[in-house]
Amino acid sequence: MNETLPRPRLSTIGSMRTDALLKKLLSLSAHEDITSFAVGLPNPDGFPIEETAEAAQYVLKTMGRRALQYSATEGEPELREAIAAYETSRGTPTRPEEVLIVTGSQQALDLTARAFVDPGDKILVENPTYLGAVSAFSLSRPRFEFLPADAEGLDPEGITEDMKDAKFAYVMPAFSNPTGLTISLERRKRLVERARELDLWIIEDDPYGELWYEKRPPQTIRSLAPERTLRLGTLSKILSPGMRLGYVTGDPELLDVLAELKLSADMHSPVLTQLIAARLLTTGVIEKNLPAVRKIYRDRGTFMLACLEKYMPRDAGISWTRVEGGMFIWVTLPEHIDAMKLMPEAIAAKVSYVPGAACFALGDKKNHMRLSFVTVPEERIDAGVRALAGVIARHL
Ligand SMILES: Cc1ncc(COP(=O)(O)O)c(C=O)c1O
Repeated sequence: MNETLPRPRLSTIGSMRTDALLKKLLSLSAHEDITSFAVGLPNPDGFPIEETAEAAQYVLKTMGRRALQYSATEGEPELREAIAAYETSRGTPTRPEEVLIVTGSQQALDLTARAFVDPGDKILVENPTYLGAVSAFSLSRPRFEFLPADAEGLDPEGITEDMKDAKFAYVMPAFSNPTGLTISLERRKRLVERARELDLWIIEDDPYGELWYEKRPPQTIRSLAPERTLRLGTLSKILSPGMRLGYVTGDPELLDVLAELKLSADMHSPVLTQLIAARLLTTGVIEKNLPAVRKIYRDRGTFMLACLEKYMPRDAGISWTRVEGGMFIWVTLPEHIDAMKLMPEAIAAKVSYVPGAACFALGDKKNHMRLSFVTVPEERIDAGVRALAGVIARHL
């Protein structure tokens, strides 16, 4: 900051900074010649661009005055109906009044924390968990406690009595970010049982559930416990993230609370993209496009797993999640290897990743990497994994 300029008097939250080192390392990895397994973007080959252009034309031509006007905070009726039908068709019975449209599910994380959490309140998260959720929740200054886990991910058996004063438990049911793991049906049922015993609320964040490779994930947590679950969904991965449209489903009274907070944040999500998305849902474009999207994810994911198998040093205490959907693989290295410290070497070898420590709410576990692969062409996946394996091998 320039010393001669006046310093702004920032709040505690305004002064919070995410890890500067991590930001620097990730910006270094943004070069063309570096194979980035760090960037977690969807593959634009899956965006239905022509169809979106047609839907935009249709919306502007037939209801332009409305599409460009202010509107209701809870969302456009067509989109709420279309989302309710979409959720219902996938086994989670949902009425339109149980849908709140938000500006990406990221906004839902922010609103949820604001609605539930006072500073110092306990919330339960998986560890590791989605970095963006930790950032959003942190603004409400909660106390993070960790849901028990084993190699399969969340283990509800370990949820203890002292967790019952938590405001909510935040979970990703399918192909989680960053681990790629999915909570099995038995564990989902047990989670719901424990939540009922302890009177816990569940925030189910499910952006990746539709991106399965061979087999659909089990039924949603909301379908098992509609009375105590807020379910977060998004069009970012099944349509495109630039639309900035997500949704929350749950008890309408609770959605009213979120809507009131949303009103202060942004009044409503863009009417134009909402109406376009509603058109794409009701004309079946999204449904028809999904198999192509899944194929991109499946092909890259399967290829990436094969490359890890081929290049990673054997019998060296390195493991990774055998993902069956979504866009992330979680690598566990021997404990003495710090993935953050390895980054400069990896970048020199022209490959990058997200150091796992960034995904722990306490940042205390160093020997992990998150690898994303859906935007990386196969030949680069091959070269990138080979380079990464070489870097790791030097530290064994
Ligand atoms: C687990 C999880 N939740 C929420 C989001 C936010 O997505 P969006 O705001 O685009 O819906 C992401 C984005 O990567 C995510 O991985």
